[in-house]
Amino acid sequence: MKIGILGFGHLGEALAKGLIKAGIAHHDLKVCTARDASWLAAESYQLELFEEADDLIREVDLLVLAIKGKVFDTLLFDTDLTKELVVLSFMAGVSLEHIRAKLDPSDLVVAIPTIAMESCHSLIAHTPTDNKMVLYVLNQVGQGYPMPLNKMAAFTSFVSCGLGFAGYLLDAFQQGGQALGFPSELAYTLTRDTFAGLLELGSFANTAERVATKGGVTQQGIELMVGEGVQDAMKKAFLLAKEKAEFK
Ligand SMILES: NC(=O)c1ccc[n+]([C@@H]2O[C@H](COP(=O)([O-])OP(=O)(O)OC[C@H]3O[C@@H](n4cnc5c(N)ncnc54)[C@H](OP(=O)(O)O)[C@@H]3O)[C@@H](O)[C@H]2O)c1
Repeated sequence: MKIGILGFGHLGEALAKGLIKAGIAHHDLKVCTARDASWLAAESYQLELFEEADDLIREVDLLVLAIKGKVFDTLLFDTDLTKELVVLSFMAGVSLEHIRAKLDPSDLVVAIPTIAMESCHSLIAHTPTDNKMVLYVLNQVGQGYPMPLNKMAAFTSFVSCGLGFAGYLLDAFQQGGQALGFPSELAYTLTRDTFAGLLELGSFANTAERVATKGGVTQQGIELMVGEGVQDAMKKAFLLAKEKAEFK
């Protein structure tokens, strides 16, 4: 199976990295991207590159759309070439109907992965499918969660944006360590290992409660975060992301 990746930004590169790590041969992966920084990135993986989407489509069985929705809107495709094509779209918020109208593929699946595809550990919401090529690709880079399109915005917000939110929060934690005088690298390691330890303990709320005993040194810090509205900010961030990720 030849896999084409249209767009080699954060997600396109993470997919290629993950597939190569999973053992897919370089010559089975082909890319079309802008003649820019992402072109140089794709070249560094020794992947065959195309300037025109139609030229990529001629060479592949499965096309992965890893471009922004607004870029997709500007592209024109030769629909004579796409009739036999299976399309896997990663574009958040772009509906099946909209993609079908432009590409008219033989099969179409919408999936929302994360950049954790690069370590083959992505959680991936996708529209239900029994397409073997699509399931094979998704299973190489993560774990699939089939669901209807109208449920996908919540998953996108919680899991895809959530990965970014978690990175932001853990970076804040690391910066807290640096404020206490730990050098950046040690603060990073201590942050990572503190969270790894937390994950072994089960309920997050219960861990907070067990550590923050009444009158102890942790309690005032938790109270400060409650006062600063940390939990509310988290909820608002997810709801905002969900609203934007809704498929139209
Ligand atoms: N990032 C995530 O975690 C995430 C998660 C879920 C879904 N998504 C979805 O995945 C899609 C890609 O997101 P991203 O974060 O990877 O965006 P990105 O980093 O901006 O990547 C988009 C890529 O498309 C390339 N491109 C621009 N114009 C092109 C054209 N005419 N033909 C071919 N390639 C072109 C860009 O090249 P240049 O940079 O060189 O211009 C870039 O490599 C979006 O639709 C987004 O909604 C992203």
